[in-house]
Amino acid sequence: MSMSDAVKLMKQAVAKAAAERVKSGMVVGLGTGSTTAFVIQFLGDRLRSRELTDIRGIPTSFQASVLAKKYGIPLVTLDDVEHLDLAIDGADEVDPDKNLIKGGGAAHTREKIVDSLADEFIVVVDSSKLVDRLGSTFPVPIELLPLALSPVTRAVEKMGGQPNLRMGVKKDGPVITDQGNLVLDVTFDEIKDPASLEASLNNIPGVLENGLFVGVADIILVGELDGETPKVREIN
Ligand code: A5P
Repeated sequence: MSMSDAVKLMKQAVAKAAAERVKSGMVVGLGTGSTTAFVIQFLGDRLRSRELTDIRGIPTSFQASVLAKKYGIPLVTLDDVEHLDLAIDGADEVDPDKNLIKGGGAAHTREKIVDSLADEFIVVVDSSKLVDRLGSTFPVPIELLPLALSPVTRAVEKMGGQPNLRMGVKKDGPVITDQGNLVLDVTFDEIKDPASLEASLNNIPGVLENGLFVGVADIILVGELDGETPKVREIN
């Protein structure tokens, strides 16, 4: 089995396990990324078979919204509901305290709003996302207003980070977020205190949100392979 087939199997297994936790009548936050794309697809299957009825989704991105429409999940906004029962979202890194780095898809600002409002936030990852310390494999994404690019870059460098403006793929120039902003991917030598770094980065004028999610996740579902058989492990 190729590496990409193995990762796909793990993502599908974990996505199915998460989609099965959704109950009829729930308001569900729909995450962004390749793993949650499978979650949305499985939720659509359950709705079509009438095993699940009357759910409403709150998308965390344009991608999630497009997929939800494709798979027949009714959508609402944060103006329409008082709370979310559940949010299901992916992550780029997960540490032993269930803290996360998110934003590989530049959707972390809306993801943090939606995920942190849910009564329960379930993270779906394959085993490659588990790390001992945040920042070891992935930079911290920061969404910022375009007019603040220079001052935010300088401020982040003063904090010891190495910022890189995220560039588009098959699009010349920088990535533009769903909100029309820029993303800086910031590498830190070591993140000793994720909570204080999360707060400090958000204190820089012009920064909207960063991809450190500290104390937000309730349950981590990890897709693993036992030989060629996918398995799901729960960390809570
Ligand atoms: C989107 O901005 C990210 O936070 C994703 O949730 C994260 O990158 C995980 O994506 P995959 O499921 O594609 O690995």
